[in-house]
Amino acid sequence: MLANAAGVMPDSLKFEADQIFFERGLDGVDVVVHGRHSHEKQRRSDLRKRLILTRRVLAVASDPANNNALFWNPAGASLEQALAVLGVPDASIGVIGGTEVFGMFLDRYEFFYLTRAPGVRLPGGRAVFPEVPERSPEDVLTRHGLEGGPPHPLDQKHGVAVVKWRRPNGI
Ligand SMILES: NC(=O)c1ccc[n+]([C@@H]2O[C@H](COP(=O)([O-])OP(=O)(O)OC[C@H]3O[C@@H](n4cnc5c(N)ncnc54)[C@H](OP(=O)(O)O)[C@@H]3O)[C@@H](O)[C@H]2O)c1
Repeated sequence: MLANAAGVMPDSLKFEADQIFFERGLDGVDVVVHGRHSHEKQRRSDLRKRLILTRRVLAVASDPANNNALFWNPAGASLEQALAVLGVPDASIGVIGGTEVFGMFLDRYEFFYLTRAPGVRLPGGRAVFPEVPERSPEDVLTRHGLEGGPPHPLDQKHGVAVVKWRRPNGI
């Protein structure tokens, strides 16, 4: 689960080492892509170019509150078209959720970083992919052609670890 049943990511799911890992990852991409409820709310967020998925626009539209952001509806414009309008056609992108947005890119990820916090239970919460919990996240990633590496511990006290999933031979 990436959020609880109310659609909120509770503090119980936030671990400092994971947050630092996440923030560093976003510092390494050109554009952040996320659904309307998944803004990362970090110190450098305003500096990042971003595409915000929403069905409230037909294709792409500027965000009056943020010059670095565009609202994007994939039903009306491709990712490539949206990146061109944003002015960064060859950008590297970091997809940060939520559920439907993570699912949309399953056949396109070059890498997917899956962090697990084994001590946290969020019954009825929002899953990382639409196919979860019918399938495990690892099963979903495998079915979409990704291969998992070894777990990298982030917070040993709480058993929190991240696995880098990689698409063999690139996309
Ligand atoms: N633990 C984690 O790593 C993690 C990661 C991501 C998110 N989260 C948490 O998860 C919660 C939100 O998750 P969520 O899945 O409910 O929200 P979300 O993906 O951020 O937002 C859902 C909204 O995004 C838009 N959207 C999604 N798919 C779309 C599509 N295919 N086409 C057009 N618009 C689309 C829609 O906006 P409109 O309603 O405007 O049409 C939809 O209502 C938050 O609490 C967030 O903090 C946690």
